[in-house]
Amino acid sequence: MDEKIIIFDTTLRDGEQSPGASLQKNEKLEIAYQLERLGVDVIEAGFPIASPDDFEGVKQIAKNIKTTIICGLSRALKKDTDAVYESVKYAKKPRIHVFLATSKIHMQYKLKKAEDEVLRQAVESVKYARNLIGDIEFSPEDASRTEKEFLYRVIEAVINAGAGTINIPDTVGYAIPEEFGGIINGIKNNVPNINKAIISVHCHNDLGLSVSNSLAAVKNGARQVECTVNGIGERAGNASLEEIVMAIKTRKDFFGSIESAINTKEIYKTSRMVSRLTGINVQPNKAIVGMNAFAHEAGIHQDGVLKKAITYEIMSPKDVGFGETKFVLGKHSGRHALSKRFEKLGYKLSEKDLDNAFKQFKILADKKKTIFDEDLKAIAEDEMVVVLERYKLEYMHITAGTQEIPHAELKLKTGKKIVSVRATGDGPVDACYKAIDKITGITGKLVDYSIRSLTSGKDALGEVSVKVMVKSQVLIGRGSSTDIIEASVKAYLNVMNKIAHHHKPRISQCT
Ligand code: KIV
Ligand code: ZN
Repeated sequence: MDEKIIIFDTTLRDGEQSPGASLQKNEKLEIAYQLERLGVDVIEAGFPIASPDDFEGVKQIAKNIKTTIICGLSRALKKDTDAVYESVKYAKKPRIHVFLATSKIHMQYKLKKAEDEVLRQAVESVKYARNLIGDIEFSPEDASRTEKEFLYRVIEAVINAGAGTINIPDTVGYAIPEEFGGIINGIKNNVPNINKAIISVHCHNDLGLSVSNSLAAVKNGARQVECTVNGIGERAGNASLEEIVMAIKTRKDFFGSIESAINTKEIYKTSRMVSRLTGINVQPNKAIVGMNAFAHEAGIHQDGVLKKAITYEIMSPKDVGFGETKFVLGKHSGRHALSKRFEKLGYKLSEKDLDNAFKQFKILADKKKTIFDEDLKAIAEDEMVVVLERYKLEYMHITAGTQEIPHAELKLKTGKKIVSVRATGDGPVDACYKAIDKITGITGKLVDYSIRSLTSGKDALGEVSVKVMVKSQVLIGRGSSTDIIEASVKAYLNVMNKIAHHHKPRISQCT
């Protein structure tokens, strides 16, 4: 690896600070194991002083995780640092992360301390921690709003006190990428002993810029990035681990030889686990791990991806363990994607069948938001019969009601002709079937009728199966539609077409 970027995961600390995301000890450990498999370099396992449960959670992780640095967070107070030490000391590679606010706003209103006092406290805390453990990280909280000269002084002093990592937090997500990159550059050029430490960044997402700010920092020399899975964290969250890792990997041309040790194929699994255990859903359009991140609906895009993925995909879903590109079939989809999906479902449709299926698909897509594989199977199976179709439903108008005699007006296409007919019946379906009998000249006796929903939701596709006796023969017909009367008509016509296939059709004009 040319230049390593250290991935410091704080899902179990800052991520757990997401409103409503409290995790049990065993859940934290489950996530820690997954983070180890993912290949993060540092796991910030918690804030041990915060609660006995947090303390135990960090301790368990420290005892069980073998390859990753296990870190605990500490205010610049001895009792906090002791708690971190007591919980992380079991780790093969323990780290103490001390923080103290350095911005004027925080010093004046929160700490009520002057610069010199803060500087002294920072130094003493780092020295104290360093006496316990060799690996110390220091964060000047609210660094992006800290006076530059004071920030440089604090950093220089804590490095001299023994901090090996200097983390620059954009605590309130206030920075703009160019400016944040400039802060890192300023530190590199103005802190005399900065080469003795690794510069880290920790960006919050209040303006939606946490990943951009982190990447600007990397470009300017930061070599550790603090981030969380799915970008969860305090308020609007932290920089998202998956976005940072994939940006660096995908844009090698921009980031040069910088590489992380993340096994990107574990990303999706980790994201699902964190979402499941924290109860925080991932928005569908979330970069890298959202349900739609590798889904294409537009026909032009689908056609492009099928020809060459790179046309509309800058990374492969396989690289993040997502599985496959998803072609969402909806009203914007094209014939190419539809034919590929049919192939996948095991249907080999002729060009003509595919044309018909595509027409049916578009009609259905106008009625239904999502087209499921079951919908397509129903279409494909209908289309196999279209080859034999003598009678095709063109139009139907039904009237029925509690005080009305059910009445059906149908128009069927047969050859090049359109034949229309009206009939009444015991119910709307019976009226339709009588109308069909009039057109075909075949009298069918309905011996069985069943309906089932092929898909879920109110706009589900219904499939009607009928058994119809014609003379002494019983034939089965099926039809599907979001309208159950239409599905019933199609099912009956399916039987009539099977019969007509063997007999010359009778075409009558009966309006
Ligand atoms: O956002 C922040 O400043 C923090 C520090 C404790 C690093 O989480
Ligand atoms: Zn934070």
